[in-house]
Amino acid sequence: MTENSAINDSDLEHAITRIARDLDKPIALVGLMGVGKSTVGRRLASLLDRDFVDADDAIEEAAQRKISEIFEEFGEEYFRAGERRVIARLMEEHSGVIATGGGAFVDDDTRALILDQAVAVWIDCDIDTLVERTSRRNTRPLLRTGDPKEILTSLHEARQPFYSQAQIRVESRDGPHSDVANDIIEAIDRWM
Ligand code: S3P
Repeated sequence: MTENSAINDSDLEHAITRIARDLDKPIALVGLMGVGKSTVGRRLASLLDRDFVDADDAIEEAAQRKISEIFEEFGEEYFRAGERRVIARLMEEHSGVIATGGGAFVDDDTRALILDQAVAVWIDCDIDTLVERTSRRNTRPLLRTGDPKEILTSLHEARQPFYSQAQIRVESRDGPHSDVANDIIEAIDRWM
């Protein structure tokens, strides 16, 4: 346990055991760019001893192109169609943790599929932390078109009605991602 995590080691162990035994669906992480879906997802999968897959990586592999190249060459609509297909496939192939790209859960079909066949966990986070985290890498085409803080603020507002449909919401603070993974375990255990 880390000092910021709400759950103690023994409760965490018990929650992990119950989830490992009873949860028969994948866990899909949703939320804005920079909330830590991939890092938290890897950690969560390792705690639960399940597989982990990053949807953005799977899209790049299927398209044999970087996401920024897909946006540049074919546009966002084309990317979303590919994202929809890839996530549908991942939901069939994986029973562990799936980190989705920030816009995936906004797509009606992808959201319906995730809500039906997985447990959706929305990782929410304050904008300043997101701006700081996303500034470390320049790989996100949507943040290249203007001021990242303004873009993230308006995406947060526009996407909140979709993200809030997730069965579970946790907050990512400005601390270690392992705390968020612990919070997710506690929240899933409570939800089950
Ligand atoms: C996007 C988020 C990105 C990636 C693409 C579009 C979005 O994923 O799918 O750049 O629409 O928010 P991350 O959330 O993993 O950065």
